[in-house]
Amino acid sequence: MVKPRHSRLPPRKSSSSTLILTLLVIFTFLILILLVLGILSVPSSSGGPKANDLNSIIRNTPDRRSEREEGWGEQWVEIVSWEPRAFVYHNFLTKEECEYLIDIAKPHMHKSTVVDSETGKSKDSRVRTSSGTFLSRGRDKIVRNIEKRIADFTFIPVEHGEGLQVLHYEVGQKYEPHYDYFQDDFNTKNGGQRIATVLMYLTDVEEGGETVFPAAKGNISSVPWWNELSECGKKGLSIKPKRGDALLFWSMKPDATLDPSSLHGGCPVIKGNKWSSTKWMRVSEYKV
Ligand SMILES: *[C@@H]1O[C@H](CO)[C@@H](O)[C@H](O)[C@H]1NC(C)=O
Repeated sequence: MVKPRHSRLPPRKSSSSTLILTLLVIFTFLILILLVLGILSVPSSSGGPKANDLNSIIRNTPDRRSEREEGWGEQWVEIVSWEPRAFVYHNFLTKEECEYLIDIAKPHMHKSTVVDSETGKSKDSRVRTSSGTFLSRGRDKIVRNIEKRIADFTFIPVEHGEGLQVLHYEVGQKYEPHYDYFQDDFNTKNGGQRIATVLMYLTDVEEGGETVFPAAKGNISSVPWWNELSECGKKGLSIKPKRGDALLFWSMKPDATLDPSSLHGGCPVIKGNKWSSTKWMRVSEYKV
């Protein structure tokens, strides 16, 4: 009885280890097949977002795409100049947003004024012949949405912004070159100096009405729209108004000094009608 038991044990041992080996091989093949079929995936460094990636940007991409389907043209940011620092965000506003801003501003338009550099008060002026109105910050959902987008674009918090100003220029109306920063102590009491301006075009303008930077450094005739510019527009680096586009320029340099190359004006409208909206951003919180 003892002998056969002894003789039987070794083969049993070897058969169970063969079984385990066979199972291992089958299991390995199964894993390999699943990997090839893509059912299982190996985490890799080039794969999806990691915890410390720019998650908000990745998450925003699908939202942007769905917004674009709702009537947004292609959106991209173009560097126009480094002196002054100026950028154009194409299709920043939708057609509906442009029309909305014009509609809510229309009943409240009055003749534009300029800031008197001695008294800090508003005054009538021949250098600025447009009409305009201010919309209070955060007045409604659509305005809040636009203000949030401006904050994202400029990296300056919503609370640093003045209320949106909506401007209307008819044929012949213009704004002579000026700085957006203040040269008095009165206007900087609330919010400090103006650091940046976002100028949004709410309509196309057939002819004229460009935003011109007469003190810009660099080759002003290298812009793609050079041949479409008015005589006034050719006197500096110019941006041609296009509905929905936003021009961002900085009145202050990265070293926090005022930038004289930010001198800019609105060329006279020659043909058509120009509506625009301006958002001035301050260096600190602007209390409304
Ligand atoms: C400026 O740019 C235009 C268009 O790109 C080019 O034809 C011209 O030669 C440039 N001028 C200078 C001084 O670089």
